[in-house]
Amino acid sequence: MLVYQDLLSGDELLSDSFPYREIENGMLWEVDGKWVVQGAVDVDIGANPSAEGGEDEGVDDQAVKVVDIVDTFRLQEQPPFDKKQFLTQIKKFIKNLSEKLDDEQKEKFRKNIEGATKFLLSKIKDLQFFVGESMHDDGCLVFAYYKDGSADPTFLYFALALKEVKC
Ligand SMILES: *[C@@H]1O[C@H](CO)[C@@H](O)[C@H](O)[C@H]1NC(C)=O
Repeated sequence: MLVYQDLLSGDELLSDSFPYREIENGMLWEVDGKWVVQGAVDVDIGANPSAEGGEDEGVDDQAVKVVDIVDTFRLQEQPPFDKKQFLTQIKKFIKNLSEKLDDEQKEKFRKNIEGATKFLLSKIKDLQFFVGESMHDDGCLVFAYYKDGSADPTFLYFALALKEVKC
């Protein structure tokens, strides 16, 4: 299986258990999240075999609902950004990420990041903002929103900020 790590923070943000669609010239990945009962998420990310999951847990009658992607990758929700904060963050991100990309990727990034940023800005009021588990200051943002009144959130990832790791 493949996991996708944040190139900047090293946090695991996604795996190939969640199919993605490329949008905005491949700049963004769109991934369907889903509200599920906690503990029912049957995704083995291979990171933490020992923790949790004792035999005697039984059926929890106080079922807690979580979003599968948030729960699986322990994404940390951040307070919402306004336009100005968002642009400040994006500028820092562009600078940081550019240092990690090869020339071809850098070119692709430079060409398309503006379109992707505009796309995100157009939805900013509807977006939730997440970072990876370590909450690194320079970590890549992950976004979620409820598309067209859907009951389940759609996640948006910066494709070039993801490092594919086989495990
Ligand atoms: C991002 O850039 C700043 C300033 O250049 C640098 O101090 C910081 O270490 C960078 N962060 C990462 C995760 O590369």
